[in-house]
Amino acid sequence: MSGISRLGYLGFEVSDLAAWEHFAVDGLGLVVASRLEDGSLVLRMDDQAQRITLHPGERDDLAYAGYEVEDEPALRALAEKLSGAGFAVTESGPEAAKARGVRGLFQLEDPNGVPIELFWGPARVDEPFRSDLVPSGFVTDDQGMGHILVVARDEAATERFYRELLGMKISDWIETELAPGLPLRATFLHSNPRHHTVAFGAAPLPKRIHHFMLQMGSRDDVGLAHDRCIDAGFAIANGFGKHPNDGMFSFYAKTPSGFEVEIGCGGRRVDDATWEVRTYDRLSTWGHRPPGTA
Ligand code: FE2
Repeated sequence: MSGISRLGYLGFEVSDLAAWEHFAVDGLGLVVASRLEDGSLVLRMDDQAQRITLHPGERDDLAYAGYEVEDEPALRALAEKLSGAGFAVTESGPEAAKARGVRGLFQLEDPNGVPIELFWGPARVDEPFRSDLVPSGFVTDDQGMGHILVVARDEAATERFYRELLGMKISDWIETELAPGLPLRATFLHSNPRHHTVAFGAAPLPKRIHHFMLQMGSRDDVGLAHDRCIDAGFAIANGFGKHPNDGMFSFYAKTPSGFEVEIGCGGRRVDDATWEVRTYDRLSTWGHRPPGTA
């Protein structure tokens, strides 16, 4: 069955590129790979040439999420399947693919209007990745670059898109109340051993995503990133805590665009042979409290 393999890259449209560069490089420990002619900044987190691209613009939101497919035949089969399901899928030309550092590229929108890019053949850099600020490195490889939490406008259509069309499997659900009388049902989906590549929920939020997540190799590096964010004056949205489903130890910082980034370590890997889907009743086993709350 054709489907996506992993989250390959993210693009953000940002109104304050200088603030974002400071946040991403000095706070998160990402490394500048290149600057494009239009002023966009390309960041690395491993040996893939392009992982996060910051595009100057007014939107301050996710510009696109790039999902990797294993090879060209699988990519074409997936594009055909999506077209057959009624989605407007466009094949991008060589220039557009080159701008993303990939060999083949299709573009469409998910049912929430989130721009989706499907690609194969990401460019890699010979020079080994090294971040002085994150000596343990970022956990990527077969698990992809991390995950995103998509703000769903239509939960049923969103589940059908990611599950039936992109081929992801349900990991679990969390059903809870964000506040008294404000229920939330979050759905977590995986496409590789990472517990979730995409999560979604129908939360009343203004951006396309609530957050994206990057995983570091050690707890010390997560703690040091937390220290750097505080020292630099970047707002912490949620302090240290642990999620019950993916087991991730993490904190959340506010990006200069208003949505959040989760920085974590120690996430559980899914083995489909033994995985049992279940529903949890809380977002965090402990912690993840906004600063200043009791
Ligand atoms: Fe997350």
